[in-house]
Amino acid sequence: MSVAAVCPGSFDPITLGHLDVVRRAAGRFDAVVVAVLENPRKQGLFTAEERIALIEDEVADLDNVTVESFQGLLVDFCNARGIRLVCKGLRAVSDFEYELQMAQMNQRIGGVETLFMSTSPEHSYLSSSLVKEVARYGGAIDGTVPPRVAAALQAKLA
Ligand code: PNS
Repeated sequence: MSVAAVCPGSFDPITLGHLDVVRRAAGRFDAVVVAVLENPRKQGLFTAEERIALIEDEVADLDNVTVESFQGLLVDFCNARGIRLVCKGLRAVSDFEYELQMAQMNQRIGGVETLFMSTSPEHSYLSSSLVKEVARYGGAIDGTVPPRVAAALQAKLA
């Protein structure tokens, strides 16, 4: 039996923490779909197309990973593809409460189960928002996002 999972997120932009979870998921599941939320009510720094292109560059070596955007409910995205599992990284206890709520809601409204993967300790403080803030004020972001993403961030904020 082939098992697929969706790794969802805003990925505005993808960090090394996200990438670590996607890569580790790719090693555990037969197929992984990275699902990039396109939220019409919240404009990101990067467009969905830009976020997808940045992620695709970083996972180009992984044959079982694809990247797509989605709008609306995550469970609809999963069910339309016959995928029953979501895989999400957990950084700290502070993530847990909201992640658990979403997992339980997704189980209830769509029958989609969520598996949590612990973030590698070296990435546990990382978030896209923090990286953007540091980059905006000219701080060093090396080691937080892949070099191509750092270059794209710096170009965007220049
Ligand atoms: O990277 P993020 O912002 O933590 O990702 C959150 C995301 C995209 C996984 C979550 O907001 C989501 O699934 N949004 C889609 C809308 C939806 O399904 N909402 C109900 C969740 S119970």
